[in-house]
Amino acid sequence: MNIRKKFPIFKKKAFINSCSKGALSDEVRQAYDDYLTDWQELGSPWDLWVNKLEELRGAFATLIHAHPNEIAVTTSVSASVNAIASSIDFSGERNEVVVDDFAFPTTAQIWHAQKGRGATVMHVPEVENSIPLSFYEKAITERTKIVSLTHVCYRHGVMQDVAEIIKIAKQKGALVMVDSYQSLGTMPLNIKEIGADFLVGGTLKYLLGSSGLGLLYTKQELIKQLNPSSSGWFAQADIFAMDIYANTPSPTARRFETGTPPNPNLYAALAGIELIQSIGLEKIDAQRREITGMIKEGVMQRGFHLVSPISPDKHGPMVSVRSNNVELLVQLLEEDQVIVSSRDGNLRISPHIYNNADDIDRLMDGLSKHKDLLI
Ligand SMILES: Cc1ncc(COP(=O)(O)O)c(C=O)c1O
Repeated sequence: MNIRKKFPIFKKKAFINSCSKGALSDEVRQAYDDYLTDWQELGSPWDLWVNKLEELRGAFATLIHAHPNEIAVTTSVSASVNAIASSIDFSGERNEVVVDDFAFPTTAQIWHAQKGRGATVMHVPEVENSIPLSFYEKAITERTKIVSLTHVCYRHGVMQDVAEIIKIAKQKGALVMVDSYQSLGTMPLNIKEIGADFLVGGTLKYLLGSSGLGLLYTKQELIKQLNPSSSGWFAQADIFAMDIYANTPSPTARRFETGTPPNPNLYAALAGIELIQSIGLEKIDAQRREITGMIKEGVMQRGFHLVSPISPDKHGPMVSVRSNNVELLVQLLEEDQVIVSSRDGNLRISPHIYNNADDIDRLMDGLSKHKDLLI
């Protein structure tokens, strides 16, 4: 299968920016069209749409080796983290949230918003693009209620060994949430092996779907102990009970859901995940290692400052390079049809399964052309 042919953007552009948004495939475009056709021809096919929701729940579960009952389908990572936070009691002695400084702002901001509910937020600092395990050993104590971890950082692509950090957290009896948005869809991820209590992510980047769709995994043993105060009719044990006198949460992770699902996004997500699964996460991971290897080699050969670690075990699908004027660099590369992005003074280059050596050659030509913007 020539996967690249399914993504029309490559007819013109070297698109290497999946950390921001996955490219649009013919399949996902068709999925949106199918949604419109169903809506137009069937009018109000709610059973079909609820079935799509359940299909997607199953697809998310398969992706991370969880049970469908452990999956809530949400509308963003923010919605997932808010649902988790709303189910946690911060009134006792154990009221600390430990947040790593690799966090995407939304997760840290949501934890800070819990201060009014009794939470204290502790940050684990980053030193030269790394957070040593010893920092977690110091930060996580008997007062820690939950540790909020980032698998791959959105600023430079550094990947943490979350399983090792989780072992530390578990010794202290803390809950752990992992944000997998920058890794999901690029490598095999077995939630049972990782051992997290919660995992959040979404479909718009490496899962090749749309915005407005997230996932929330919650470990089976925990579900019934957690009563989110964010709720709604899709969170009820019986969605169609229509009971206005009580909140009766679902016995499954569906209790973290709220209202009517974003139906068009379900179609797109299913098509995107199907594409990923048809290739296979092992193959995607192998290609991630190879293509990020090409980028790192090209950057180092030219004497530019590689911010990401050299080992592919220590970074995700994104590689970052230091620039002295990254906004201008992104703009000039775009003028030459090379699409990348920036954060924190770094040029973010984030290939996916559809990228090839030709894209990397075009990128390297662009970097050489604008070498005065690189350090
Ligand atoms: C690691 C990570 N978490 C969360 C988000 C944002 O999630 P959402 O907008 O779905 O709340 C992003 C977006 O780039 C991200 O990279």
